[in-house]
Amino acid sequence: MGVGYRWFGRPLLRFQDSEKAHGRSLTLLRLFSSNPVTRTVLKLLYKPRRSLPVELFGHTYAHPFGLAAGMDKNAKALRGWEATGLAFVEIGGVTMLEQTGNPKPRMFRAPKAQALVNRMGFNNNGSEKIQAALKHHFERYGRPSVPLWVNLGKSKITPLDDAPMDYATTMERLWAYGDVFVINVSSPNTPNLRELQGDEGLKSILLACHEVNTTQSTTTLTEKKPILVKVAPDMTAEQLVHIAQTAKSNGADGIVVSNTTVERPDATHARDAAVFAEQGGMSGQPLKERSTVMIKTVRQATGPDWPIIGVGGIASADDAWEKIAAGATLIQAYSGFVFEGPALTKTIVNGLHKRLQASPFTSLDEAKGASLE
Ligand SMILES: Cc1cc2nc3c(=O)[nH]c(=O)nc-3n(C[C@H](O)[C@H](O)[C@H](O)COP(=O)(O)O)c2cc1C
Repeated sequence: MGVGYRWFGRPLLRFQDSEKAHGRSLTLLRLFSSNPVTRTVLKLLYKPRRSLPVELFGHTYAHPFGLAAGMDKNAKALRGWEATGLAFVEIGGVTMLEQTGNPKPRMFRAPKAQALVNRMGFNNNGSEKIQAALKHHFERYGRPSVPLWVNLGKSKITPLDDAPMDYATTMERLWAYGDVFVINVSSPNTPNLRELQGDEGLKSILLACHEVNTTQSTTTLTEKKPILVKVAPDMTAEQLVHIAQTAKSNGADGIVVSNTTVERPDATHARDAAVFAEQGGMSGQPLKERSTVMIKTVRQATGPDWPIIGVGGIASADDAWEKIAAGATLIQAYSGFVFEGPALTKTIVNGLHKRLQASPFTSLDEAKGASLE
């Protein structure tokens, strides 16, 4: 954790409502990255100098660590995330229609457990406005220097039967701007969304998104974009294997493991207990082990060649290494940034570099899945 964040950022956070603190941080990041001088300061402070290249989906990622979905739903601070040295940025969840989300408060911090509980409910500007914002951004600043991932959610008022149309419409509107698309059927905060992890739901959403992909790639004479599926942690190993195999056999290019959980650990402090009593999805440290086990399960069932993106409780280089050793090609975090601040990227990349040097492996690709062998 950076000294500045430990001394000033985190103590200040204690006195702020979680969502307001999040909004202020995003605004600050956007502001800082809009000026060349402060943007350079961000880079000097936070951008890792080590490179740990990962080849995936036709791109070279400078290292394996990126921003998880939900942090910058409306792509407000793209240049800021780039400046802090993330290897890729996932925006969204974007839904076809603009949504205000659930009533506030809807985001809670459990500081002792280093966990968050949220029931945001896909608050976002919707696919049309986000399309316009990205168009403006690309025209003004060009394509981001790191791959841009787009998390696709379902609009709350769209019935489950029409979900394929909802996801596909968003994908079509954002196709030109995204490098990778993630079908999120695993948020616990949109009623019945997780039912779409079932065979029929998943197949029809993938089919509709593949159709968009084919049409867009044909009309623009460019490559198709990878489509991934993001899964929930609240299921048995058998169910997880089934979903992963359904996704793979229906043309998903990989899987993101995992979204937040509706389960709760025992709280050791009263404030954490109050947070755990809130409805919603929990993320952060208590999710870490569960998501790592899930990565191993998927890897064992689908083999080494189907990409797994590991997310859940990553807040240190050791956490990151565990996810890679379990089988993840790339990794992401949300909660880690809330508790550790923007220096997390540098800490993780430098720490991974050290771990790699101390290991028998010459690349992260070789280390991938090592804990299974
Ligand atoms: C406030 C909040 C909002 C989120 N919104 C989304 C979302 O819109 N789409 C999605 O796929 N995941 C969303 N997530 C889940 C994260 O992307 C991630 O999967 C989860 O938090 C576990 O990672 P972490 O322990 O590093 O936070 C959200 C998480 C939080 C805390």
